[in-house]
Amino acid sequence: MDRSYIEALVRERVMSQLNHAPMVSGGKRELIVAGNWKMNMTAKETKAFIKQIKEVSLPDHILPMIFPPYPYLYMFRDMLRYDRIAFGAQDVAKEEKGAYTGEVSATMLGDIGCSYVIVGHSERRSYYGDTEELVGQKAQAAFSHGLTPIICIGETLEERQSGHYQSVLKSQLDAVYREMHQNIVKCIIAYEPVWAIGTGVIPTMEEIRDTHGFIKDTLYSYENEGRSIPILYGGSANEKNVVEISGIGDVGGFLIGGASLKAESFGNIIQLLS
Ligand code: PGA
Repeated sequence: MDRSYIEALVRERVMSQLNHAPMVSGGKRELIVAGNWKMNMTAKETKAFIKQIKEVSLPDHILPMIFPPYPYLYMFRDMLRYDRIAFGAQDVAKEEKGAYTGEVSATMLGDIGCSYVIVGHSERRSYYGDTEELVGQKAQAAFSHGLTPIICIGETLEERQSGHYQSVLKSQLDAVYREMHQNIVKCIIAYEPVWAIGTGVIPTMEEIRDTHGFIKDTLYSYENEGRSIPILYGGSANEKNVVEISGIGDVGGFLIGGASLKAESFGNIIQLLS
């Protein structure tokens, strides 16, 4: 057996533990701490980040994941061989392969060692026209090629203030359910109010509690197992607020943008939640 074969086996084992880890470990609720780098970082910065984050001590109940730009995924594959840190891409094509210039398929992401992929981020929905239907199709394409989709949903400030936010979130979830049916229970949902992303403004704890509760009930209305789908909170999550937000029972972790770009702050968030 050559070394690369053994390494691939170890990586597969580590990742299957991540995917099937129990919701409670050592008496603590499992928390996913995911970093969405968006279109930031250089190769040099990525290398330094990975080196630093490997040194952070990792409690069993925390599952860290990083979502770098596509060109740096290979660095995660090469540098994280035996580490319990997952990585994935920020988007994926709905198509399997072919003449789709600029797109990256779920198979390709799997080939390079990704276990997860973000779909439906509000920046994709608003700047690149990803429709609710397309988001569902991307999630299903990812799932059917062995990746776990992190499906982002969230309302704008106007939708929140007009009181229609629940129907907006339900419509986003319904579209995913139409494509995925019972496979939705194998996904992760990230609730990211658009008005909280990159603004430094976060909802009140009551708003987060109520909204996560609403999302949980909606998922349960589709499938009984829908209750166990992790629901992450995203939008200006940082060292100052993660502990309080994690106290809300239906919060299964965080999707973090700005505060995930420095290994120090990302590592601090892990420590704070330990
Ligand atoms: P932010 O971004 O933490 O910088 O607000 C979160 C996200 O867009 O996923």
